[in-house]
Amino acid sequence: MKSEHAPTIQRSDYTPLAWNIENIELHFALDPAATLVTSRMRCVRRASAADPLRLLGEELELVSVSIDGRPAEDSRLKRGEGWLEIALDDDRAEVGIVTRINPQANSALSGLYVSRGGFFTQCEAEGFRRIAFFPDRPDAMTRFTVTLEADAADYPVLLSNGNLVEEGALAGGRHFAKWVDPFLKPSYLFALVAAKLVALERRVKTASGREVLLQVWVEEGNLDRTPHAMDSLVHSMRWDEEVFGLELDLDRFMIVAVSDFNMGAMENKGLNIFNAKYVLAKPDTATDVDYENIESVVAHEYFHNWTGNRVTCRDWFQLTLKEGLTVFRDQQFSADMLAQAAGEAGAASARAVKRIDDVRVLRAAQFPEDAGPMAHPIRPESYQEINNFYTATVYEKGAEVIRMLHTLLGAEGFRNGMDLYFSYHDGQAVTCDDFVDCMAEANGYDLDQFMLWYSQAGTPRVKAAGAWDAASGSYTLTLSQHTPPTPGQPDKAPLVIPVAVGLIGPDGKDLPLSLEGENHGGATTRVLVLSEAEQTFRFTGLAAEPVPSVLRGFSAPVILELEESDERLAFRMAHDADAFNRWDAAQRYAERVIFALAADVASGRALVLPEAFAAAFRALLNDGALDPAFRAQAAALPSETYLLERMEPADPAALRVAMMHVMRELGKGLAADWLAIEAAMEVPGEYHYHPGDAGRRALGNLALKYLAAGGVTEGLARAETRFARFGNMTEGFGALAALVQSASPAREVALSRFHERYRDDALVLDKWFALQASVWRWDASAAPVLGRVRALMDDPAFSLANPNKVYALLGSFFRANAAEFHAPDGSGHAFWADQVIALDGRNPQVAARMARALENWRRFTPALRQSIRAQIARVAAAPGLSPDVAEIVGKALA
Ligand code: ARG
Ligand code: ZN
Repeated sequence: MKSEHAPTIQRSDYTPLAWNIENIELHFALDPAATLVTSRMRCVRRASAADPLRLLGEELELVSVSIDGRPAEDSRLKRGEGWLEIALDDDRAEVGIVTRINPQANSALSGLYVSRGGFFTQCEAEGFRRIAFFPDRPDAMTRFTVTLEADAADYPVLLSNGNLVEEGALAGGRHFAKWVDPFLKPSYLFALVAAKLVALERRVKTASGREVLLQVWVEEGNLDRTPHAMDSLVHSMRWDEEVFGLELDLDRFMIVAVSDFNMGAMENKGLNIFNAKYVLAKPDTATDVDYENIESVVAHEYFHNWTGNRVTCRDWFQLTLKEGLTVFRDQQFSADMLAQAAGEAGAASARAVKRIDDVRVLRAAQFPEDAGPMAHPIRPESYQEINNFYTATVYEKGAEVIRMLHTLLGAEGFRNGMDLYFSYHDGQAVTCDDFVDCMAEANGYDLDQFMLWYSQAGTPRVKAAGAWDAASGSYTLTLSQHTPPTPGQPDKAPLVIPVAVGLIGPDGKDLPLSLEGENHGGATTRVLVLSEAEQTFRFTGLAAEPVPSVLRGFSAPVILELEESDERLAFRMAHDADAFNRWDAAQRYAERVIFALAADVASGRALVLPEAFAAAFRALLNDGALDPAFRAQAAALPSETYLLERMEPADPAALRVAMMHVMRELGKGLAADWLAIEAAMEVPGEYHYHPGDAGRRALGNLALKYLAAGGVTEGLARAETRFARFGNMTEGFGALAALVQSASPAREVALSRFHERYRDDALVLDKWFALQASVWRWDASAAPVLGRVRALMDDPAFSLANPNKVYALLGSFFRANAAEFHAPDGSGHAFWADQVIALDGRNPQVAARMARALENWRRFTPALRQSIRAQIARVAAAPGLSPDVAEIVGKALA
């Protein structure tokens, strides 16, 4: 375990390395309890300074060190916690180091570890130092040659980065494989796999005609779940060639699925290692959403090959350089795939649905982060533990910042900037400034003020206010901005904010826009660039007072404050030509209704769902001109997490009652509509993943959910029938979830049937765990959910050692069941503290993720606040806390 007192690392402290490692040869004698790692590094002094060679290493048993082939004298070696320094006389040296490690004991799943009998690695961010002594930071790029040696029967497949150059049998039933990666790379992109696996293979040609071998490696028995990942890979390759002119640069590209993995997946050069959840899919075990997620994660990791690997980060403060950009790229890719599947007529709506999905994630995960004790700019200024900064801010807000560049510069300008970036920086480790400079230079566009997005934390508020002047037929829109203070940043400067605006005429149609002083015009959506604290924009030539539609397509990651009557929201729900804003109008209206009901709950008034809202909701739901995927989005309430974040003070119990009331009333009140929709959305024939079908199934499942919430007998009967004979997981799990999220007595039987059918399928059981942890108590006589969660921890399929299980059961309870987690007696909070402490002993990264569930405690009602604070303090006082959890609870209490 690392030191208890994690020092704070500052971005401003960056200094270049004194030594360059020209290449490294690694030899692994693999053994679960004692793996011998032999490394030979060709080292070249960079500066004329006398600095020793400084290497980082953790949890390593040092066996020997040699310099230019001779054993190193002890006087040349200096060792401290986490590092080894070697004094070298000359400007060049060949340094050999032998270390011993224990992969089997590695429960942190960082470095080299064992999962289901095989060896796997995860080196980002700082895992390589748990494998070998090395300058383990991203600006130390080198060439890797790797030889793996292991028992041939237990580990028939031996993989590493790059190209396989040699393999063969050895004495004693062992065998070896030698891999050479022709590209320079930092150590965080190193990977090895040694396991019993099989591969789906495909040979394809790149745009320039080179043949490459693609492989998806999985455990035997899972081959039938690999075709979708393979298809996704091929689609990703084509897309990057077409949209960015970027080709695969290796002869072989491998994806490996592993069951124990802290995060989603990892872009190791030529050898991507994935959480099995983002690889394996067949109709019977994976939902449409799983298929979508696999496509986007495969794309994300593949796209990293250029944005991350060919050009990497100088230091970890630049993480968003690769992550924000790569998330933006995978979002664009998914949108294009959806649009392509929808055909020309449906393309715009399909893109909007993807945009809505992404904004839902941003609002539910990133906005709260930006408003709490962990708030940080997309390029943080400091950290204690870098693994805590793989955040929604760095990833999702980072992607929004890239998207704004794309909006400001246009698709072609953006592409020119990308081309310039690769022409200047291929093979280098660079900074966010280097990237933005390329965008500026390629377009002759001043982005100095734009850089504030990289240094200011907090979600900006943009206020929009309109004034109609009938006499001149002009409409004045005043936009102002304000970013609230965040830890360490009391004052903020105005940002550059692209605000896409449209004006809707009284007939519901968009009006052509002309800004005062312009003689062109005619577009119906205009991007206004707000760069001052307040600016006004005057639209002229209007015949009647328009209704403004502001922040179309969510053109910037801000909170829009726009005063609108219920009537206006209903009008925009019916007419806004921008599908995103049409959805957003429905969300705003729903939020208003839910908050009013929550206030009624708190003050003991009777709950009445406003008829006008139900009518607007119904009209949108039944608009047959809209595609089902969009209707499903529009009819889904804002998430409880998002609403809790906006509620002052956060009162989970009142919010839950209000949300249940809305769902119940809409379920019962619109029962006939839902029943008709449910029947109409049925997709006949055999399941195959297709976005159009997925949209129909999503709307059908939502109908069942409302019907079940409303206790509609016919709806519950349909859920039971469907569940009794489902052919694919999307429909089966939709029916199960509807039953479980209802007061129906059938829910327990359904849960145990499901368990019987999938008892041996870990990924499906994750859904089963997650569903039970997120259950709402529709049946007032049901026991608190915490009891169920505790009991499920004793289920033989559950394990604290498997991150997916922890995320499914504990993560769902902590993050997707606020009313139960925040039970007034504080039992949930005490349970949280117990689990964070228990997890921290084995896997600090997973523990820290769970620890973050309570960081926004100051927003809650006084009694909850007190209870949470006490439990955070209990965790903070636990002996031997990892730097990961220490940073989270320390900041939460500060
Ligand atoms: N670079 C990976 C991705 O976004 C994430 C790896 C993060 N791992 C970690 N332990 N922090 O694709
Ligand atoms: Zn990534």
